[in-house]
Amino acid sequence: MNSGDGIMLPKRLASIVSQIPGGSRVADIGSDHGYLPIELVKRGFPRPIATEHAPGPYQQCAESIAGYDIDLRFGSGLAPISPAEVDVVVIAGMSGQTIQEILVQSWDKVKQIGMFILQPMLGAEELRLFLLEREIGISHEWLVKERGKYYQYLNVIPEKISVPDQLKRAYPNIEEGFLIKIGCGLLLDTSELNQEYFQFQLKKLEKVLKRLDRDKHSQRYKEIEMQVFNWRQVIQCHTKLVNAHR
Ligand SMILES: C[S@@+](CC[C@H](N)C(=O)[O-])C[C@H]1O[C@@H](n2cnc3c(N)ncnc32)[C@H](O)[C@@H]1O
Repeated sequence: MNSGDGIMLPKRLASIVSQIPGGSRVADIGSDHGYLPIELVKRGFPRPIATEHAPGPYQQCAESIAGYDIDLRFGSGLAPISPAEVDVVVIAGMSGQTIQEILVQSWDKVKQIGMFILQPMLGAEELRLFLLEREIGISHEWLVKERGKYYQYLNVIPEKISVPDQLKRAYPNIEEGFLIKIGCGLLLDTSELNQEYFQFQLKKLEKVLKRLDRDKHSQRYKEIEMQVFNWRQVIQCHTKLVNAHR
């Protein structure tokens, strides 16, 4: 996908564009280079809003989007937008913690916006717990792999969505909190990429465990050991799901 002049839109951002219903009024919070709104303009979406919260990135964004019909606004988080003027809000390329802060700071607005697409660079697990506690539902979630790195995406709506019974049936005996952190949508998706990602997570933890001194860091060791155990169970259950869908 192309954006900017001759710039290839990264797969990470192209995946977001592909999830936005045609004709939606979109605000891209923390737009930086503005690639996402530029792509939306090229695809005929109504004039997108791009925001930036600091003078440097704001100026940079202004230069990048010059010549495109994009409404660039200055301000932090959701402050520069009103819920009535947007259908979809994108918050991408930031930590889960920053995304949480943005949502908390404008909680009244969050409840009035139809859909968010969140793409945390890290801290997706805590973000999922936060959303659940706040009764914000994850309507869809998926993964993208680009240049060896896995990216997680959460489509979020301002309504409570209960943990599906299907998840409890497919992953019996695994602590629900652990499953929620991984993501119900990811766990019920039988695609190869998800299988690969789960294996990747397990291997990462197994490596950490190998390097840890069991006596010196006994508490941490126990925690990681428990996570490794849970991931192995998750992978077993997910493999069963995959086989049942073949
Ligand atoms: C790493 S860039 C990601 C840019 C783009 N969204 C993407 O996914 O490629 C993060 C951007 O978010 C902006 N940002 C961070 N916190 C913000 C906030 N509270 N409000 C608006 N922008 C913010 C930063 O200035 C920076 O330009």
